[in-house]
Parts: sequence; structure tokens; C-alpha cells
Amino acid sequence: MARRKKLYEGKAKILYEGPEPGTLVQYFKDDATAFNAQKKDVIEGKGVLNNRLSEFFMTGLSRIGVPNHFIKRLNMREQLIRQVEIIPLEVIVRNFAAGSMAKRLGLEEGATLPRPIVEFSYKDDALGDPLVPEEYIIAFGWASQQDLDDIVALALRVNDFMSGVMHGVGIKLVDFKIEIGRVWEGDYMRLIVADEISPDSCRLWDIETGQKLDKDVFRQDLGSLNDAYTEVAKRLGVLPSNV
Ligand code: C5P
Repeated sequence: MARRKKLYEGKAKILYEGPEPGTLVQYFKDDATAFNAQKKDVIEGKGVLNNRLSEFFMTGLSRIGVPNHFIKRLNMREQLIRQVEIIPLEVIVRNFAAGSMAKRLGLEEGATLPRPIVEFSYKDDALGDPLVPEEYIIAFGWASQQDLDDIVALALRVNDFMSGVMHGVGIKLVDFKIEIGRVWEGDYMRLIVADEISPDSCRLWDIETGQKLDKDVFRQDLGSLNDAYTEVAKRLGVLPSNV
């Protein structure tokens, strides 16, 4: 089969032209990066796990009516997705203090937040994805106030779904990042969840032991990233429990 045309290569994924107009093929690499790519490694099999896990979460979101880009998984590392116009924001939802928020506000890691908090970073590697207030987003035209209201509503629905699913398998959803894209249906624009949802973009802690089962294992050198992701996949039934 002729190789598809590569459209974009990021740190963890590659996008190829899809078989139909309006579709893309998303390929999951084994590359792991942290601290804005200052720390890098290749974790054999990570791409396969994230392809499966993102399929699992996106399919579940579709079932409860949260629109997203996932169409179908093609093979171990590739999935067919809808082409979107990505909004240049990282939409972060936090249930417990951790990471950059804990550091910025001097909060204890794991402190319960008064309610889920949605924040936005401007997607720009060279700038280190800086946190931006809504005022900037609207003034610079990255999204309108209406878009932002819709994005917050979408992000909170994703949070409710993900928190519930993870809680069901003994995992606390501390925080996560999603990206949102625009799709055009005739004259009508819709916002849908895009990119990926995987342990690369979430903080997941075992409820009983507090063990980290996400990319912090790589960021903080806490052991095998593959073992952590495999544990998440097994608990969710995405991989057989005897693997
Ligand atoms: O580092 P920080 O605490 O701001 O990250 C919040 C959440 O967003 C974490 O789950 C992290 O994995 C995710 N994130 C991401 N990609 C980034 C920045 C953060 O997936 N570029």
C-alpha cells in the first residue's frame, strides 16, 4: 500500500492524510517527552497502549454524547479521526492540586480543590505553553466568549465521565488536558474533543496506595512507564488482565 502523506509530526503523534476528505490518520509514537522536550526517551509499546486507551475514552465519550474526533482504530498504532481546526489552547481540568498549579500556588500535592477548575494554556512549545486568562484568548481571537463557554462545558462533561470511569477501577483522576477542534457542518461550526486522552495527558493516582499511573512516572523517574500504563489498561479491561 502506498504510504500516506505526512501532514504534521508532533512529540508523541504523527498525522497523515486520511482516506476520505475530512479525515486524518493519527499515528501514536513511542516517544516520551517532558519539561517541554528537555527530557526525552523512547518507551517501547507506549504508542500501542495510548492508541488503545484513547480509543477507549473517546468511544465512551461518544456513547454519552460528547462529540469527539475518533472514528475507528485502524491497527495497533493508528486510528482514523475527523480532521479539525485545532484551537491553540491546552484545556486543563483539575480536581486535586498537583503539578504546575501546586507549585504556582504553594498547595500541597493532592489537596482537594473546592470544585473542578478549568484553565487554559496557549499551545506554543517555544514559549512553554504559558497559562493564559480568558481575556487574552478573546482579545487575541483564539476563541470567542461563546466558544469558551462551550469549551468549559465540554471539558466538565469529559471530567465527569473520566472521573467516574477511573473511580470505578480504583483510580483518582487528579487532572488532565484536552484539546478542542472546530469542525464545519455546512454553515454550522461545532466544537469537538480532539488530539488524545491517555495517561500521557492525565494525572492518575491509585486511590488506595497513591501510586502514580501516568506520565509523572517518566517525568519523576518513578519506574516503568509501560508498567503504569499497562496497569491502567488492564483495570479498564482494554487489555486482558493476564497480559
Ligand atoms: O503540568 P501541569 O500541572 O500544568 O499539567 C496539568 C495536566 O495537563 C497534567 O495531567 C499533564 O499531564 C497535562 N498536560 C499535558 N500536556 C501539556 C501540559 C500539561 O498533557 N503540555
